[in-house]
Amino acid sequence: MSEVAVIGAGYVGLTTATCLAHLGHRVICADIVEERVERLSKGEVPILEDGLPALLAEGLATGRLSFVVGARKAAAVADFVFLCVPTPQADDGSADLSFVEDVTREIAPVLRRGAVVINKSTMPVGSTRLVEQILGEAGASIDQVRVASNPEFLREGTSVEDFLHPNRVVIGCDDPSVAVRVSELYRALDAPILVTDPASAEMIKYASNAFLATKISFVNAIANLCEAVDADVREVTLGMGYDQRIGFEFLHPGPGYGGSCFPKDTAALLFASRNVGYDFALLDGVVEVNRRQHERMVEKATSMVGGSLEGVTIALWGLTFKANTDDLRDSPALVIAQRLIEGGANVRAFDPAAGESAERAVPGLVVVSDPYEVCAGAALLAVLTEWDQFRWLDFNRVRDALASPNVLDTRNLLDPVALRRRGFTYEGVGRS
Ligand SMILES: NC(=O)c1ccc[n+]([C@@H]2O[C@H](COP(=O)([O-])OP(=O)(O)OC[C@H]3O[C@@H](n4cnc5c(N)ncnc54)[C@H](O)[C@@H]3O)[C@@H](O)[C@H]2O)c1
Repeated sequence: MSEVAVIGAGYVGLTTATCLAHLGHRVICADIVEERVERLSKGEVPILEDGLPALLAEGLATGRLSFVVGARKAAAVADFVFLCVPTPQADDGSADLSFVEDVTREIAPVLRRGAVVINKSTMPVGSTRLVEQILGEAGASIDQVRVASNPEFLREGTSVEDFLHPNRVVIGCDDPSVAVRVSELYRALDAPILVTDPASAEMIKYASNAFLATKISFVNAIANLCEAVDADVREVTLGMGYDQRIGFEFLHPGPGYGGSCFPKDTAALLFASRNVGYDFALLDGVVEVNRRQHERMVEKATSMVGGSLEGVTIALWGLTFKANTDDLRDSPALVIAQRLIEGGANVRAFDPAAGESAERAVPGLVVVSDPYEVCAGAALLAVLTEWDQFRWLDFNRVRDALASPNVLDTRNLLDPVALRRRGFTYEGVGRS
């Protein structure tokens, strides 16, 4: 059993802490938000994540998992300290490492001899060295404390499943004996463990996210072409996906990618490329296609309501950046809602998981707690997140509630034939 500290109790930190406790380690998870620590200590999960409530209850019951306010208390008694703090996008597009730098300075003086600080937050190439340097400057004995990169690949919504059944575990460290110690934390998992140098580990994370974003922008561009040539993108992606070199994953057109990772990680990789004088035109294109895809959805909505948004009421289903999460960060739905409001529309939204924080994120947006009520008197219903439950609602009720039976399905979630039969005007993405 290893003594582990996890710093940051967000999507990544909380998943890491509960899963490592589940695997038999003793874990102290620290956050700076007192209320979050209090709730977690009582077994309340502050985020929507399948499987987390059960693992949290298990960790607390076995005594292997506990929560504290402040990184120092957790780090002082740990052999392994996972940094899971935010690395948001700075104004210039780079990754803002201030949370990482602050917490590194905070824990440096209390680290045990032999402790390994593990960068799990997504950090640009060079960050393992940066953390080492800050630890040294802030009073850690750098011959006795080691730093490794161990990027995280989990997906929100299935974070526990992804952590416990990863496609791979990547460990970046120059010292093989430290890499072996870190890899032993994951011994119970049935996954390939790739041990490499820190720079390569850091690049693996950015390259993976940039590649997935590329797949999404590519399929969105194909979908837009399909509309122009009267092809159906669903047939096209089916035919592409059977090719094992391509695969079906991430071949779904939509309103563009969003969320807490792809936008900021593509921006950070572009920033890093510019810094070394490399013109990453391909990735620039991916980001631009994504930006335009959000706008394209606004244009579709505008045309469906007759060419002007002024004074028009629009209903939205879905606000989170994808289904099965409550995360609104960089959600395309919020961008689209904002643009519709800027165009003069009255916008109301229903989402199964997003609370009133969406109203704070988009001034003027009204969040309604019922999927039918939100449609009342609206000239258009736009489906912006692919929540499965939307497919099973009563569309006769929806039609009767709307002022005009228009549906813009930006996720190709609904059945156009069934809706048209009920009298709806339906528009999806990439299908005629
Ligand atoms: N969310 C994802 O799907 C995902 C997936 C892979 C990697 N990542 C990366 O993991 C990192 C964390 O992402 P997240 O989504 O978990 O963020 P998050 O915002 O959900 O959680 C971060 C937590 O860190 C806490 N925190 C900040 N400063 C602290 C400090 N000094 N001491 C203790 N706690 C502190 C915050 O209060 C917050 O609870 C980011 O670098 C992100 O890019 C995220």
